[in-house]
Amino acid sequence: MDNFQSLIIKRRSIRHFTSEHVDEEQIKTIIEAGLMAPTSKSSRAWQFIIVNEPDMLERLSHCKSRAAEPIARAPLAVVVAVDPSATEPWIEDASIAAAYMQLQATDLGLGTCWIQVRDRYGDDGTPAEEYVQELLHMPDTLPIVCILAIGHPAEERKPQALDKLKWEQVHINSWTQR
Ligand SMILES: Cc1cc2nc3c(=O)[nH]c(=O)nc-3n(C[C@H](O)[C@H](O)[C@H](O)COP(=O)(O)O)c2cc1C
Repeated sequence: MDNFQSLIIKRRSIRHFTSEHVDEEQIKTIIEAGLMAPTSKSSRAWQFIIVNEPDMLERLSHCKSRAAEPIARAPLAVVVAVDPSATEPWIEDASIAAAYMQLQATDLGLGTCWIQVRDRYGDDGTPAEEYVQELLHMPDTLPIVCILAIGHPAEERKPQALDKLKWEQVHINSWTQR
């Protein structure tokens, strides 16, 4: 991508992927972006679990009752977990790292979709987080903030429309009631 604004404009959630693998160098670059994300007091308390086995991706996609299908269609997922005992703003820290990885993947020509896990539930009421922790043999002390589905896009999404941005939600110097 030639510049950062083009990258921001281009990034859209991608939920359909080709069967092409994400190569190891690309995975490394994406994870590096997460590992370089800023964290409160430099706590860097996240844990990233790379999943690229088709069977595991399929099983991960059943973590909640809806909207997790992109994981099964993707060749790669990154599960973003974090240790809340290490830092109070753990949700913020993990979210920033996830967003960095999404942007890095976009810059590599890949598509991504954030799959919400925290506060989501399966058909039988099991918390999505518990399901994922058990599947990946993770300790239950590590909440999962999201799973990123990543792959080569098999769908075209329109770039962001600059003329549709919610400027009415932007205020200068003080709150303006609109
Ligand atoms: C916190 C968060 C949770 C999301 N959860 C899901 C999800 O579980 N499944 C999904 O398909 N998309 C999910 N998304 C993607 C949003 O639906 C998407 O970002 C939004 O519709 C705007 O579209 P865009 O990303 O293409 O600009 C989530 C995004 C965020 C930031």
